[in-house]
Amino acid sequence: MKTALLAFVLALAFSSQSLLEASPEQVVDTSGKVLRAGVNYNILVSMPYTSCRSPQRLGLSKLGKCPLDVVVVNIDHGLLLRFIPINSKKGVIRVSTDLNIMFPPNVTCPHHSTVWRVDNSHVSKGNWFVTTGGVVGNPGRETIGNWFKIEKYEGAYNYKLVYCPSVCPSCKHECKNVGMVVDENGNQRLALSYVPFQFRFYKA
Ligand SMILES: *[C@@H]1O[C@H](CO)[C@@H](O)[C@H](O)[C@H]1NC(C)=O
Repeated sequence: MKTALLAFVLALAFSSQSLLEASPEQVVDTSGKVLRAGVNYNILVSMPYTSCRSPQRLGLSKLGKCPLDVVVVNIDHGLLLRFIPINSKKGVIRVSTDLNIMFPPNVTCPHHSTVWRVDNSHVSKGNWFVTTGGVVGNPGRETIGNWFKIEKYEGAYNYKLVYCPSVCPSCKHECKNVGMVVDENGNQRLALSYVPFQFRFYKA
């Protein structure tokens, strides 16, 4: 009898733990509302302890050939963003969960998507810039550059983005923060970096 009870308690403990593990914390906007999949958000980025303290936003720029690249822009020129988690049936956005990030469609490069993608294919000095042309979903080796995660970062409503995909366990990846790199032409580009941007989300 005791053994049965013990087994029951253990089973309960394990199942509640796996339940917790299955549901990381929900990401919230600055009014405390849960971020929803596929809904447009205004976002502000800043680096509190650096010269990029004042908030900026993110936009698109045609720095080379299509697709467009993700750049840091002043607050009036930012574009809306939406998030699509790996399990898109789940309507809410959670921390530590693989997700795709996209801008609204853009006519400048009509044949390319505005889905974020990490690109290190033709860049110098080991920079990993965030560009577009990615795909939504289809997790695996082929799409490894398309997956980002949101993590909590220093205080309520503050988050950072990391490139730390879990979609392909065999393509091991060191976790990197999403921050800024100024390229050789002076463009402030979104890129993987040691110093993360602090992200705040506002319902559009
Ligand atoms: C479209 O892309 C251009 C860069 O070529 C950018 O300046 C503009 O803000 C974008 N517009 C929208 C609505 O995405």
